[in-house]
Amino acid sequence: MTIETVLKMGDERLLRKAQPVTQFDTPELHELVSNMIETMRAMNGAGLAAPQIGVDLQLVLFEIQENPRYPDVETIPLTILVNPVIEPMGAEMEEGWEGCLSIPGMRGLVPRFSKIRYSGFDAHGHAISKSVSGFHARVVQHECDHLEGMLYPMRIRDLANFGFSSALFPERE
Ligand code: NI
Repeated sequence: MTIETVLKMGDERLLRKAQPVTQFDTPELHELVSNMIETMRAMNGAGLAAPQIGVDLQLVLFEIQENPRYPDVETIPLTILVNPVIEPMGAEMEEGWEGCLSIPGMRGLVPRFSKIRYSGFDAHGHAISKSVSGFHARVVQHECDHLEGMLYPMRIRDLANFGFSSALFPERE
């Protein structure tokens, strides 16, 4: 496994519309997934999209592990999602703070659908479909945005709510 370099905002490869995966359960796809998992965990990320390591494919993964330092944070099982489709369940949206491994040190307040259904495939080609809400739904929408060349600052409604994490949340430093 390899920890990959995560591209930073400004790299035009983050702005592409990613291509669908056409071959499942291949050694190449499993190796890509392994490297992405290792990279996400090494950087303490909640998710990672293939375009963030320069791979132009519709593949995201996300995970929030139990953390004794943050006992109240909702956990999300490790999920590998290929060729995802997101369907909002209702029009309700909510604002929440987001960060991104491609925009280190920054946070922004981003509107997202409160409830969604996502569907797609795992790396073996098995269909996945799940309804999620709250922070889980936020993470999925953030990661899938990467496949459309969309980074969270592009969705911030008021740029007064965008800044350095150390300045926005000094108590967390
Ligand atoms: Ni991101």
